Amino acid sequence: MRKAKVYVPDTVAVEAIDMLRQDFEVVYTPKENAVTPLSELLERLQDVDGLLVYPRVPIDKNLLDQAPNLRVVSNIAVGYDNFDLSEMAKQKVVGTHTPDVLTETTADLAFGLLLAAARRIPEADAFVKSGQWHANVPNLLAGTDVYGRIIGIVGMGRIGTAVARRALGFGMRVLYYNRRRRSDIENTMHVHYVHLDHLLQTSDFVVVLTPLTEETVHLIGRSQLEQMKPDAYLINVARGKVVDEQALIFALQNGWIRGAGLDVYENEPLPSNHPFLHMNQVVTLPHIGSSTVETRKAMALLAAENLRCALLDEKPPHMVNP
Ligand code: DGY
Repeated sequence: MRKAKVYVPDTVAVEAIDMLRQDFEVVYTPKENAVTPLSELLERLQDVDGLLVYPRVPIDKNLLDQAPNLRVVSNIAVGYDNFDLSEMAKQKVVGTHTPDVLTETTADLAFGLLLAAARRIPEADAFVKSGQWHANVPNLLAGTDVYGRIIGIVGMGRIGTAVARRALGFGMRVLYYNRRRRSDIENTMHVHYVHLDHLLQTSDFVVVLTPLTEETVHLIGRSQLEQMKPDAYLINVARGKVVDEQALIFALQNGWIRGAGLDVYENEPLPSNHPFLHMNQVVTLPHIGSSTVETRKAMALLAAENLRCALLDEKPPHMVNP
């Protein structure tokens, strides 16, 4: 009997490839420090049964039409906004993702970004390294207090809860807004559910952690940014499109808020002429929320396990479209 064929276009932990090779024919074509261009990826799909990909790859009609044998797409990510779920259902393609294993690491990065923006850490590092540190002048690169301030978490899922835990450790007051109130979390943690407007008007740090769905596209737009405090910061480690980027640029340029910490953007990678690149009050990271060696390995192994189960007609641990 023909072994199912799995295609892995980008670099993943070798242990995940080893696992897949036990049951399947694996086409693994990673490019060092680069990704396989989409055009090349599409050309290789003809007889592929399973695909293991990062969410940069749109699983849409165009891709599915070129993959007549495809049965499973395993995302190496918790977010799966790259899946066109209705098209996948039409073409009977199962989708899976990798929650839980990246929660704490992504929360670490979210909190790191908050601290970096508030305490101007990247600016200070550049200042020292560029030889500008000639005297300990008072108020040198003075930032904003984090301890004792108010954090507003938009999207109280797994990562939101993990960020709340860190914030409580920093003596912060934690507000949250979520589609549905999380009394389960309120029972165990000192966090307060508020309406989004209240959260925006009150928080010193607004941290966006909601998944990208039709309902959350531009959830934070001009009228939301207008409500924030002029000394507040916006932190986004979810998906770029949850924030209206043009509105955010306008808000930053006009002093509606003090700064931002961003790991995600409406279009990635950021073009070299993007306004954020010239804004000291914006800390820009290249979508590395879950990027530690340990976590990326755990994600790859879970993604491989999802794929293995689905191709062997077993229930995968984390299916998104049952
Ligand atoms: C995720 O897991 O969704 C991360 O953002 C990686 O893309």
